[in-house]
Amino acid sequence: TDLAPNPSTPPGNPELADAAPPPQAPAIIQRKDYRVPEWLVPTIDLDFALKLDATRVKSTLRVERNPHGEQGTTLRLNGDGITADSVTVDGQSTNSWRMDGSDLVIELDGDKHEIVIETTLDPAANSQLSGLYASNGMLCTQCEAEGFRRITFFPDRPDVLSRYAVRLAGDKAKFPVLLANGNEVARGADPERDGPGTHWAEWHDPWPKPSYLFALVAGELVANRSSFVTLSGRKVRLAIYVRPGDEARTGHAMESLKAAMKWDEDVYGREYDLDDFNIVAVSDFNAGAMENKGLNIFNTRYILADPDTATDGDYDAIEGVVAHEYFHNWSGNRVTCRDWFQLSLKEGFTVLRDQQFSAAMGSAPVKRIEDVRVLRGVQFPEDSGPLAHPIRPDSYQEISNFYTATVYNKGAEVIRMMTVMAGLDRFRRGTDLYFERHDGEAATCEDFVKAIEDGAGLDLKQFRRWYEQAGTPRVEVEMRHDATSGEVRLILRQTVPATPGQPDKAPMPIPLRTALFDRMSGRHGGEQTLILDDATREFSFTGFAEPPVLSINRGFSAPVAIATPTPAEDLLFLARHDDDPFARYEAMQQLVVQHLVGVVNGSVTGAALDQGRAAIGEAFEAILDDRALDDLMRGEFVILPGETYLAEQLLVNEPAAIHAAREELKAWLGINLGAQFRALHDRCSAVPYSLSPEARGSRKLKTQALVYLAPADPAEAIRRAKAQFDGADNMTDRQGALMVLCGLSGPEREEALAAFHDRYAGNALVIDKWFSLQAGSLNPKALEHTKALADHPDFNLANPNRVRSLYMAFAANPQAFHDASGEGYRMIADLIETLDPLNSSTAARFVTPLGRWKRMEPGRSALMKAELERLAAVPTLSRDTREQVSRSLD
Ligand code: PHE
Ligand code: ZN
Repeated sequence: TDLAPNPSTPPGNPELADAAPPPQAPAIIQRKDYRVPEWLVPTIDLDFALKLDATRVKSTLRVERNPHGEQGTTLRLNGDGITADSVTVDGQSTNSWRMDGSDLVIELDGDKHEIVIETTLDPAANSQLSGLYASNGMLCTQCEAEGFRRITFFPDRPDVLSRYAVRLAGDKAKFPVLLANGNEVARGADPERDGPGTHWAEWHDPWPKPSYLFALVAGELVANRSSFVTLSGRKVRLAIYVRPGDEARTGHAMESLKAAMKWDEDVYGREYDLDDFNIVAVSDFNAGAMENKGLNIFNTRYILADPDTATDGDYDAIEGVVAHEYFHNWSGNRVTCRDWFQLSLKEGFTVLRDQQFSAAMGSAPVKRIEDVRVLRGVQFPEDSGPLAHPIRPDSYQEISNFYTATVYNKGAEVIRMMTVMAGLDRFRRGTDLYFERHDGEAATCEDFVKAIEDGAGLDLKQFRRWYEQAGTPRVEVEMRHDATSGEVRLILRQTVPATPGQPDKAPMPIPLRTALFDRMSGRHGGEQTLILDDATREFSFTGFAEPPVLSINRGFSAPVAIATPTPAEDLLFLARHDDDPFARYEAMQQLVVQHLVGVVNGSVTGAALDQGRAAIGEAFEAILDDRALDDLMRGEFVILPGETYLAEQLLVNEPAAIHAAREELKAWLGINLGAQFRALHDRCSAVPYSLSPEARGSRKLKTQALVYLAPADPAEAIRRAKAQFDGADNMTDRQGALMVLCGLSGPEREEALAAFHDRYAGNALVIDKWFSLQAGSLNPKALEHTKALADHPDFNLANPNRVRSLYMAFAANPQAFHDASGEGYRMIADLIETLDPLNSSTAARFVTPLGRWKRMEPGRSALMKAELERLAAVPTLSRDTREQVSRSLD
């Protein structure tokens, strides 16, 4: 448990015990140091006597010497914050074990042994939410990455695969539902063995799995049940377990699950492999969800939805995450990771799969735009900052710090490039070969690349550098046109910027989907995929009497930055004519980015400022009027590039100037297109609620219209937002209106906030929104409001959703977080210091926003750095947080 005595105190045989080790620098784990396990554990039996504050665990390991490993005589079993009550080897209690730090080490002379270890845990005191913990009176586990060692002693590494047999016993009234991985094989009651009022259940998982995929749940839960018939005609029982009262909000998750099961059969040929698939939703969870074999455990926010409490965005997120965890059954579970450096093997691939799935379920171009927005808004900054790392890192101190946008989202982009180069059919041959070759194994990223290479018939030799090198490549574009010959030469150059530990980079193959448009006809003669695989490459095209308009990196075929600005007239042309919806969107974004960057760095003033705005205004008008565009897509076009992405385009971040320039442009558009935005708000407000793309599109635009009217005509925006709020029959409209009201001031703001809180008192997920809206608001007092909300009776440091709802929203709100006083930085540093002892993996995630001090203007830079230094001086900092703080200061 978390309150266990110092694990370095040796409870084993005193003669074998080490002296307490002196405090030392944290160990750095290197990818190149990988060694195969010395011992394997083909089967494990786990026997749990469940109690909220004292769970007893009896673990029986059948261990075998690995013929391929080193032939030592010591078996090392990892532990973390636990002590062994007893240890037996082959049925005998033994003295041949000792503690080495938190690991239990046993001397063994044979090749095969049975080890039985008993531990006692206090789940109610487990605030880290890793291992076995209590949430709302129920018990559940989280074992990825290294949580299993907080339950029992085990070789807690993903390349040790075991068959699990689990017995759960506990109070029948408190824990009427008992779940674990695999199949329930028996259940009953044995009060003599387990105590009065108890019952038990036994679960066997036929599929060997690593310890990080182990899970159990015990509690008072109700199930939404359904079923799915697989491609070979097997009927799978499906259940989504939630707290009583929440079952009516599980319908969308269930539909998403069935759609995902079908899609994985159709598109990847992957069939489910157990008779039951169970999902449990818990309200205290460090991440989004977890793919434990046959027993996915979810944060409630990715399960529960109905129109009154969930936005359209929430519906999409649920669909995506339910699919993501389900897809892990093949990409992650059937083929797992050899070691944690290979994390992107399962995560990058599974993110790509869930993105493809969501694209197929809704609007593919809108999905692509959203995914690229996340990549640029979160991963690009990570890749250019102190925490930059390759998608397959070379070293780490604490693995939970590497569940990053780079490993997940850039990892998905890297595999997506393979699909661009091979085409989807050949790519599928590659993934078939991968699953066939490595089923039941713990594989590496190299295994994946090799299988795609062999199956799809690609040469990925140089492409492997995408796994090795961090940093977002920058591509420069030069076009030369020869009017007499009609030849166009396209000269492309790439540079990969230096990142921590990687000063020099080699060129990588960059697949760029490209089209050259004829200015007159507005058409192009066919798209080509150009592969920029050297520092410089030249491509030649013929038949152009006039210089064409270049459309490059269409569909965002490569995760790179195009570094050469495009002439505004070409961007206007593409925003009107490009037949690739992403490229059209991108042209519009670049038009705005180039303008705003110019305003911030002072190069766009006076007449140029007016001209720039006029051009953007015209493009906006064309978009608002374009009848061929659907509203979901139109909604994307009118979202301005975010402040973080804008900051990325500048050598020195000036948050106040960026914020002001962006807000001024919004106000200008709101004033100059006021009639259009009013008409848009009216038109969209007349569309009744449904989940159809049309209705969703109108909801998206409705609130966007208010976003532009707010700075232009606050009184009218308040009037319209209040009407939208009062008349809303769904959360998308209600939240959108409240967001706009929150950014303005006046009695309507306070009234709406109070009404919203009243209406949803007790609904944790909606109250999270209430906190986020205020902390993330454009309101100039957002900093003050956030400070006050930390003392609100509903705020709770022990619940990660609530902590994130307040402080992640705040840290992502540039105008508040980057307050010139430095108070925002101090607030986040204080949070880290207070949260770290309670929940270190959640605390460590808040270091990132403070880490970008090097690119910041001098005043704020010094303030940010000072907060990091203050944290570095805290002697009791966790390994998670210490690693992030020290990397950020380097
Ligand atoms: N493996 C989970 C996923 O991406 C994420 C996760 C990691 C959850 C660590 C909990 C802890 O699907
Ligand atoms: Zn995942």
